[in-house]
Amino acid sequence: MRNVLLINASPRPAVSQAHQLAHELLGSLQRRHPALALTERDLAGQPLAPLGADYANALTTPTPFDAPELKLSEALIVELERSDLVLIATPMHNFTLPAALKLWIDYVLRIHRTFSYGADGKVGLLPDRPVYVLVGSGGFHRGERARQPDFLTPYLRHALATMGLFDVHFIYLEGLVGEAAAVTARAAARAQLALEPIFQGLVVT
Ligand SMILES: Cc1cc2nc3c(=O)[nH]c(=O)nc-3n(C[C@H](O)[C@H](O)[C@H](O)COP(=O)(O)O)c2cc1C
Repeated sequence: MRNVLLINASPRPAVSQAHQLAHELLGSLQRRHPALALTERDLAGQPLAPLGADYANALTTPTPFDAPELKLSEALIVELERSDLVLIATPMHNFTLPAALKLWIDYVLRIHRTFSYGADGKVGLLPDRPVYVLVGSGGFHRGERARQPDFLTPYLRHALATMGLFDVHFIYLEGLVGEAAAVTARAAARAQLALEPIFQGLVVT
């Protein structure tokens, strides 16, 4: 384990339970791998440029990978390629992923670069690696208390798989309303993560 890519999609990472949990995970990894290099991509604090005509044209016509229109896409894909582990901390927004995270997908899920297209459809070109997605939500979308659908999980799982990333784990922090609920949700998520060999040493409180 050498390189970790942390993607934050919360507009308020300082208080985001998912983002704070991601940093707990990093802390436990750093204790086991002191030389660990972290690349943090704050999609909310430093928003990616909206997609323009240049990018859309470059994607739909033959364009060299080093063309200026693909510069940002290339940079984001290289971050992904270099990572041995990807952590995505994201809220659920309106039953799905925040726009900032969808925009990241639009830059990294790129034909001829992270997937190819043939008779069998889209085939991922990235070597697989573990991806942990920490999802915070105000309400519940699983189990008996679920009162809303979850379009985030199936969409993100499919988008990542299209690039070749299948080793994807979703950890949910649900019902994040008030301090007590946040403590409970985070403790449950932590206990679940502590069972994963990759996060051995995570302190469960
Ligand atoms: C624009 C917006 C849409 C939201 N939509 C949902 C939703 O569909 N379901 C839900 O359970 N919570 C929803 N929430 C609440 C957030 O998921 C919740 O506050 C979560 O804790 C935010 O995570 P964060 O602190 O990591 O940003 C929404 C919040 C915002 C700001």
